[in-house]
Amino acid sequence: MRTYRSKVVEAVELLPRDRRSERLAAAGYNVFNLDAADVFVDLLTDSGTGAMSDAQWAALLRGDEAYAGSRSFADLKQAAAEVMGIDEIVPAHQGRGAENLLYGALVEEGDVVPANAHFDTTRAHVAANGGEPVDCPAEGATDPDADGPYKGDISTERVRQLIDEAGAERVPAIVVTITNNSMAGQPVSVENVAAARELADDADALLVIDACRFAENAGLIRAIEDDGRSVAAIAREQLQYADAVVMSGKKDGLVNVGGFVGLNAPVDDDLLATLRSRAILYEGFPTYGGMAGRDLAAMAVGLREAVEEGYVTERIGQVHRLADALADAGVPVYRPVGGHAVYVDAGTLLSHVPSERFPGQALVCELYREGGVRAVELGSLAFPGTDRPELVRLALPRRMYHDEHLDHVVETFEGVLDRRDEIPGLEIIEEPAIPEIRHFTAELRPVDEVEVET
Ligand code: F0G
Repeated sequence: MRTYRSKVVEAVELLPRDRRSERLAAAGYNVFNLDAADVFVDLLTDSGTGAMSDAQWAALLRGDEAYAGSRSFADLKQAAAEVMGIDEIVPAHQGRGAENLLYGALVEEGDVVPANAHFDTTRAHVAANGGEPVDCPAEGATDPDADGPYKGDISTERVRQLIDEAGAERVPAIVVTITNNSMAGQPVSVENVAAARELADDADALLVIDACRFAENAGLIRAIEDDGRSVAAIAREQLQYADAVVMSGKKDGLVNVGGFVGLNAPVDDDLLATLRSRAILYEGFPTYGGMAGRDLAAMAVGLREAVEEGYVTERIGQVHRLADALADAGVPVYRPVGGHAVYVDAGTLLSHVPSERFPGQALVCELYREGGVRAVELGSLAFPGTDRPELVRLALPRRMYHDEHLDHVVETFEGVLDRRDEIPGLEIIEEPAIPEIRHFTAELRPVDEVEVET
């Protein structure tokens, strides 16, 4: 069993309720517009928000800031080789920087790129290069009550069908995101990645794994299969199928910023050269790629820590404890529970609020008003025009919060459940020109069909 004790502390204050209501209104009922200092338990994202270990802080001091050929680059390359089996890396400032390097090199006008489900930034990079991102999730992935265990898988039938329709020459890559963040953080099996590998070979396409939560995916597999394989062994086994890996170090790199594109043997030398040239244009010299030497050093340590059994067990255990406590309190929770977040079915919780009144966003607002808890909507506000469930994500930063914080989240939900019928829907009063990113900046207001509590 593993726990963490604090070596440095940060004070967090809970604002009085009336001030929270004021802040919510001033933020245009969009929690992205809040000051973080006004948030008590911040579950907006698990990305770059975790706590580093003492070993990582020690590594920071030894970071080598050389512009070219830094020792810290060599350390990260070595860690990626040992932990992920990756032969070459091109660092980037974070995951989307790595996506820009890779998809800019791979995708051309008119291409089609299937994935188990594209994360927002992946979708945007494929589209920005003229490609069409197509989600091919496993059957049942959008159903919060469908059985698992591998609801994050890519549907090989759908991919095959897409390749037949589009023509293999128009499919440069197949993307598998582990865990599948856009589908409730569901795990992807090793067998599914192996099957995607075969499809990629048949279509002469690259198999890309978005590996930002590779260790959590391996931890979930270990719990499901329970066949004696270690998390580290499962992670390596799964990643070996990829030609290329996109990594946001802000998740299972256990750092606050950073990422890379990784290439597996046999390395495509032309692709590597293109990635390095693009790095020079967009990120930095290919041995630092937008990261400080100290960040490369901390990530080298973080990657190794991410596959420690004690770490992964505690990490996934915390997410599952929160999910179980919420379910016990009567909150409809997406099942099975993934590795980085609890996804709540706001469509069921606020069944009186129709989709066009954004039940997920209404719940997110009330969680802040009730307990200063910040979550994120992943329903009809974030994904306009799709028929996804109205989910709200409670993402747990790594190694940050303690049980008392989780208890507070559960109590907050209980307060919201007590007055669920009075909670109003919302309407958008201002939104940006790009609909795919409207949830980040849109301003809303409660629809006064129901009286608003202040
Ligand atoms: N791929 C996946 C699956 C992600 O979840 C993210 C980020 C990225 C790529 C991009 O990485 O943020 O380092 O540029 N996800 C965060 C989230 C933002 O909240 O889920 P990045």
